[in-house]
Amino acid sequence: MEAIELQGGARMPLLGLGTFKVTDPGECSRSVLAAIRAGYRLIDTAQAYGNEAAVGAGIRAAIGEGLCGRADLFVTTKVNFRSFETEDCRRSLAESRSRLGLDYLDMVLLHWPFGNVYAAWRVLEEEKDAGRIRAIGVSNMEPDRFIDLCEFNRVRPDVNQIETHLYCQRRGVREWMGKYGIACQAYAPLGQGRANEMFSEEAVAGIAARHSKTPAQVLLRFLTQEGISAIPKSVHEARIVENIGIFDFELDGAEMEALRALDRDAPMIGLPEKPEKVVRAMGW
Ligand SMILES: NC(=O)c1ccc[n+]([C@@H]2O[C@H](COP(=O)([O-])OP(=O)(O)OC[C@H]3O[C@@H](n4cnc5c(N)ncnc54)[C@H](OP(=O)(O)O)[C@@H]3O)[C@@H](O)[C@H]2O)c1
Repeated sequence: MEAIELQGGARMPLLGLGTFKVTDPGECSRSVLAAIRAGYRLIDTAQAYGNEAAVGAGIRAAIGEGLCGRADLFVTTKVNFRSFETEDCRRSLAESRSRLGLDYLDMVLLHWPFGNVYAAWRVLEEEKDAGRIRAIGVSNMEPDRFIDLCEFNRVRPDVNQIETHLYCQRRGVREWMGKYGIACQAYAPLGQGRANEMFSEEAVAGIAARHSKTPAQVLLRFLTQEGISAIPKSVHEARIVENIGIFDFELDGAEMEALRALDRDAPMIGLPEKPEKVVRAMGW
């Protein structure tokens, strides 16, 4: 699996499995196991998803089957913004480790830039120093927030996990992330289930046919070829296998340009500067 070298020294696989809304524990563990069997080594969860224990069970099953060792995996979780005060954050990380059954976490992100971001960030720095986390980062941060964080703290984020897909390519944000050494990880890389519109784009369908690949594979290849890590979610084994089948072909320059031209700069899930989306997403 190709990987991105993070500025803090860890290597993050380019492709991983997302687990948002996978709340049935059996389904979640089976998806994680199927993904590791298919060659995934990055698994993305979050305290807010309520499935860390099931993700941990899937990981233990995979290690038990001899599919990989613990050190081969890159397990990410995210701290809920409701646990950003110092002691809450420390406690929530210990609880995440316990639910996942892991004595260290490969990456921890601050899930949303709300509440006491500074306090939580300094706990992540401390946990990294103590060897309980290998890489630390943020999520849903626009440039004003991550520049502020970088300029007033000791450690810069390794990653900013943001909504990124064909219709929301984030070139401007990624340029600023690049200046601060922050790698981009794409959430909702398939448009969060609204992939059909993307799949039937003429350029996507045409490129897929030319390479004997599926539209989903073209969308994921596009992102990873741009140097973006992508974490598509699926609970279906066939799609889990399909989504990782992107490392045996390459898009040429004209194909990359055709896909870049489809950017609408249109996030679907939430941007911190769009108040109505924030309030809805956070349940406020
Ligand atoms: N940091 C954040 O705030 C944040 C926000 C959202 C998501 N995330 C993370 O990013 C991950 C991915 O984002 P997402 O789950 O929102 O959306 P996504 O990965 O873009 O889309 C998932 C949807 O696409 C379907 N799908 C998967 N593979 C497919 C394929 N090959 N063909 C057709 N449909 C396919 C899935 O259905 P089936 O499962 O039925 O196959 C599911 O409905 C999440 O799971 C989560 O880990 C983070």
